[in-house]
Amino acid sequence: MSDILEAILRRRAVKLFEPIEISQELREQILDAARHAPSSFNMQPYRLYWVESEAQKALVAKLCMGQSPAATASALVVAVADIASMPATTECQLAWMRSSNFSQEKIRDYERTAKIGRILFVPGPLGIFAAVKRAIFWSLNLWKTMGMPPLSRQEWLKWATKSTSLACQNLMIAAEALGFNTCPMEGFDGRRLSRYLGLSRRDHEIVMVIAIGKRSHEYVEAPQWRRPLEATVTLL
Ligand SMILES: Cc1cc2nc3c(=O)[nH]c(=O)nc-3n(C[C@H](O)[C@H](O)[C@H](O)COP(=O)(O)O)c2cc1C
Repeated sequence: MSDILEAILRRRAVKLFEPIEISQELREQILDAARHAPSSFNMQPYRLYWVESEAQKALVAKLCMGQSPAATASALVVAVADIASMPATTECQLAWMRSSNFSQEKIRDYERTAKIGRILFVPGPLGIFAAVKRAIFWSLNLWKTMGMPPLSRQEWLKWATKSTSLACQNLMIAAEALGFNTCPMEGFDGRRLSRYLGLSRRDHEIVMVIAIGKRSHEYVEAPQWRRPLEATVTLL
């Protein structure tokens, strides 16, 4: 079996960790794997907060309701969907395209797409622009096959959450492949954790907190159960 498949099948949500340190090199490998995940329009609309100092970890673990994976982890990663990062991301990609000698045509194409993205993004006061844009898209959709883009802030946050989740899964598989274990958690006090990280309700949504460490020898793992394949898959 391939190493990747092995890491995927070996991964479990581990609830109790040994106190070990994660070196800077391994931390960077884990985070690098996370950002290699695919993302919608390659926008990478997230920020990962790696919490490793004892004091900060204790605080975040408390905001994860003191759950044992959080309290015993070597590090906690707070994965935040971040729609405010988009303008900086497009500027950064444009600078990269210019310095990598992309053709003028490709750069113009990207600028055009970024501009459309910016127009779609502005929800306006009380979501008025979003309502107008939705009406336009619905009318177009009556005679044209097309997808509906995110328009309201909530829809944009949902959009960003998908890409954030893929980065989280990459992070957990990379950690597993490098000899660590993880536990994804959504049992946290979102309001207090957001305040602690200085996040805004408009632009940010905490998707999950991931505990990383090495499985404790004392940890007794329950058998893994999954629905049968035919309950999750439809073949057409
Ligand atoms: C989005 C998400 C949130 C989760 N939240 C918690 C949590 O707050 N606490 C916890 O102990 N486990 C949490 N889990 C872990 C699940 O309980 C676990 O993945 C599931 O029971 C399957 O077990 P396995 O991952 O070992 O196969 C979460 C998993 C996911 C994907």
